[in-house]
Amino acid sequence: FPKITSKVLQDMKTTGEKISMLTAYDFSMARIFDEAGVDVLLVGDSAANVMAGYDTTLPITLDHMIYHTQSVSRAVKRAMIITDLPFGTYQGDSKQALNSGVRLMKEAGAHALKLEGGKEITDSVSRLIQAGIPVMGHLGLTPQSIYKFGSYAIRAKEENEANVLLSNAQALQDAGCFAIVLEKIPATLGKKVTEMLQIPVIGIGAGKHVDGQVLVMHDLLGISKDFAPRFLRRYLDLYSQITNATTAYVSDVKSRKFPSDKEQY
Ligand code: KIV
Ligand code: NA
Repeated sequence: FPKITSKVLQDMKTTGEKISMLTAYDFSMARIFDEAGVDVLLVGDSAANVMAGYDTTLPITLDHMIYHTQSVSRAVKRAMIITDLPFGTYQGDSKQALNSGVRLMKEAGAHALKLEGGKEITDSVSRLIQAGIPVMGHLGLTPQSIYKFGSYAIRAKEENEANVLLSNAQALQDAGCFAIVLEKIPATLGKKVTEMLQIPVIGIGAGKHVDGQVLVMHDLLGISKDFAPRFLRRYLDLYSQITNATTAYVSDVKSRKFPSDKEQY
């Protein structure tokens, strides 16, 4: 049973302690992040991009998400594990949403689920919550709808779109979501939503006024190379460091420097 629960996150909002959230997809990284004190580990469907190499998040399946969540859950002692319901496993059919959600909780060890969308998915949200599954919402840039929007540009800059987002955020809280993610929207709107809602608001490119921050681990660690939006802070340049380590290894093997006399039986 995790130390961090939706109740703990709610208390953090109340006391003003910011929430740290990071994606994880495998055992080894999840163990490091959990021990380093990340509050929430998100098994994001961004696994489609960073783990599987797809251009969008659409192709990842429920079985893939179960595999990643199982790997993460074997490592975690403290963090809350939230898993994305992937595209096509919950929209427009609350029974399907429940079946998908139950598999992630029962077979994979998720502690909560994240779904993209507003009013159009509140039936699915309510049904999951009735079954005892905590649900996190996700508004703003919602990558599962990329073909509807046609770009990964900032969302809700216009007043109309901002008002729609505000009413969707309220609808998700009313449906019982314990938190929501806001992706790539103006900081002023992030602030408005955070002040309007009682539940925690976690941002990615949503400014500094929200209740917490989330990043994709490959971006934070500098493993992804060409992705450089303004909101991203890289804490390492692992792409270069791994490249240097790897070329050194190849060179040592070729030049017979590895293994040495001591590195053999
Ligand atoms: O899949 C993901 O990594 C996400 C975060 C960017 C919020 O949904
Ligand atoms: Na996602």
